[in-house]
Amino acid sequence: MLRVVICKNPDEVGYQASRQVIESMQRTLAKSDRYVLGLPTGETPLPLYGYLIAAFYAGEIDFSAVHTFNLDEYVGLPPNHAQSYRYFMMRNLFDFVNIPVHQTHMPNGLTRDVNQECARYERLIESLGIDLWVLGIGRNEHIAFNEPGSSRESKTRKVKLTLDTIEANARFFESHDQVPTEALSVGISTVLDNSKEIVLMATGLSKAQAIAIALLGPVSGWIPASYLREHEHCTFYLDKLAASNCEQVIGEGVCPEYLEVVYAE
Ligand code: GLP
Repeated sequence: MLRVVICKNPDEVGYQASRQVIESMQRTLAKSDRYVLGLPTGETPLPLYGYLIAAFYAGEIDFSAVHTFNLDEYVGLPPNHAQSYRYFMMRNLFDFVNIPVHQTHMPNGLTRDVNQECARYERLIESLGIDLWVLGIGRNEHIAFNEPGSSRESKTRKVKLTLDTIEANARFFESHDQVPTEALSVGISTVLDNSKEIVLMATGLSKAQAIAIALLGPVSGWIPASYLREHEHCTFYLDKLAASNCEQVIGEGVCPEYLEVVYAE
């Protein structure tokens, strides 16, 4: 059963998702000496990262035993490049909490041996396991950089970005030709088969169609996010705009049986 939490705005999406992450961290660290968190980049998770930093400063959570795995990294960008995902994570989360840098894992987009690097990353994820993986979604229903056409069994690998994704990412670069066209990305299997809990966040009208198709369309590799419906413990946090193409269906009595829809207070 996939749980959908509809929130009034993007800040509430971040807040509600942060409560699930914080409770999961606290629950796990009460009985284990390690917590493993999967993380996305992008604009959508920024409020969540703000709430996690606030919870750290309030003494609610401690990151010293937390390991993180990021979903992806651009091929060819060094870690200190302002648009690399490593740089993004430092600037928006890692620099503000007490996580040891060697516990923050990302694929190395500068590797000379792509196959070896992807196998190393996949093995590390499999060996530590993921307590909770947070995801965003692309306008074309991609998760991580698993573009339409990705296989359910896909693992960490080098991927080519679609024109739509390159165009969406261009807003962060000075010119279109600087946008990387390839990335190292975890696969759909990497996320689904290693995570105890999954959280997907989506906000804004530009995600409304992707969310409606992911929730109500067929489960298929052409709709990578649709595979999340196969996970036992997955929650979508949506703002009103991201839910707007499907709210009339999922918010009413005709909601499919595989969805549980709740409204955040
Ligand atoms: C990129 C990332 C995804 C992310 C997506 C959406 O493609 N690889 O992991 O979910 O962007 O980003 P945003 O939250 O900025 O819309």
